Amino acid sequence: MTVRVDVNGLLAQTVGADGVTGDELDTLVPELDRVRRELAERRAAGDLAVADLPYRRTDLQRVLKTLGEVRDRFDTLVVVGIGGSALGAHALEQALSAGQGMRVLVSDSVDPASLRALLDAVDLQRTLFNVVSKSGDTAETMARFLIIRDRLMREFGAVDYTDHILVTTEARRGSLRQIVNDEGFRSLAVAPEVDGRFSALTAVGLFPAAAAGIDVEMLLAGAAMMDQRMRAAESPLADPALALAGALWTLARRRNTRIVVLMSYVERLTAVGDWFCQLWGESLGKATTRTGQLVEYGQTAVRARGSADQHSHLQLYLDGPRDKVVLFLRVGDHGEPLDVPAAYQDLEEVGCLGGTSLGALLNESQRATEFALGRRGRPSATIDVPAVNPFTVGQLVYLLEMATIASGWLAGVDPFGQPAIEQTKELTFGLMGRPGFETHRAEIEAWLGRKDPARIL
Ligand code: PA5
Repeated sequence: MTVRVDVNGLLAQTVGADGVTGDELDTLVPELDRVRRELAERRAAGDLAVADLPYRRTDLQRVLKTLGEVRDRFDTLVVVGIGGSALGAHALEQALSAGQGMRVLVSDSVDPASLRALLDAVDLQRTLFNVVSKSGDTAETMARFLIIRDRLMREFGAVDYTDHILVTTEARRGSLRQIVNDEGFRSLAVAPEVDGRFSALTAVGLFPAAAAGIDVEMLLAGAAMMDQRMRAAESPLADPALALAGALWTLARRRNTRIVVLMSYVERLTAVGDWFCQLWGESLGKATTRTGQLVEYGQTAVRARGSADQHSHLQLYLDGPRDKVVLFLRVGDHGEPLDVPAAYQDLEEVGCLGGTSLGALLNESQRATEFALGRRGRPSATIDVPAVNPFTVGQLVYLLEMATIASGWLAGVDPFGQPAIEQTKELTFGLMGRPGFETHRAEIEAWLGRKDPARIL
């Protein structure tokens, strides 16, 4: 059950001039060695918590203990978060939940219609709300928390309502932690050193996953296995995460490949695609290098669904600008087959499908697309997942996280932190009337004042 990364389609020997050449691979090796050394040194110094998440047993025990306290009382869990405090949980739930645990719903929208619909759809008596915010201050999450809290207080009274809320936030910082301390909500802690988008394997993703009945031990075991494969690799080009990161960085630097499309040929992994878009975009999209040089670096990640998007985006990928690389997610075993019955043998287009299965059609569609791209000299790589289960998804999550970190370091940018997002959070506070943020409101109003009403058509 090993997840494998096939990078052949990224190489010039397979796709020609738009692929990575042998010489470029040679020059990549010392760069990747530098990344490998930094990974090892920072881990040894206890300065790269995200890489060690598969081994944090105490965090896992806290998650399972908390779940033990609530599992009999509730049958629905609503995760209330945004960005990294929602996308990882959604990815794990969509990929792996098999109806064995609670129903897990993830709310990351402040659209009033969607929160209203969600609250109308659940039985409050049997629902636990997991409010997740690492900072404990994000406006979109806190506003929904206030609405939910009010609804619960009206339903269950000022004391009992607290049983319906579980907070996941930093242990020592933020308004949400202060509220937990004051009001005594059940809570879990997020490590301050793990950014939201890297927190799928912390309590942020693990609690909802465990609540959904997912084997979180196996998830972490899969992540640990990928880590061990990376560390055991004889050369950096034999390390799946580093080889992938290195090739994608080379394409970005030498071929101006600005878009990475994660195209999943299994519906259950499409939310992994959404999670990846945040991980890749927010980690690599940085104005300056780690030494302060202006670079405005980044690669835009786009999520696509195979085979549906073969009938939508693919025309652009095949004939449009040569600024993209496609990462296929392909699954060997789709589970119980859904066979296509034989009929209309006299009609060749339909007749040839009889006796095959939908899983086979999906996988052959992926192969056809991979070939079609390669034939036009357009690079792609394929991540082969033998079957979708906690062990393989753990490998996949760790692989993509490590490839993201490596890619950032290769480009010289810091994959951690999200300064531009933090600025936007402050601007929102300015508009929402937070004391101390008045200058932001004034700045925005001045900028809006420059709009010419005659141009609003
Ligand atoms: O990756 C990140 O750090 C961000 O996307 C955050 O997850 C997002 O802004 C939500 O922040 P918080 O968890 O503090 O509410």
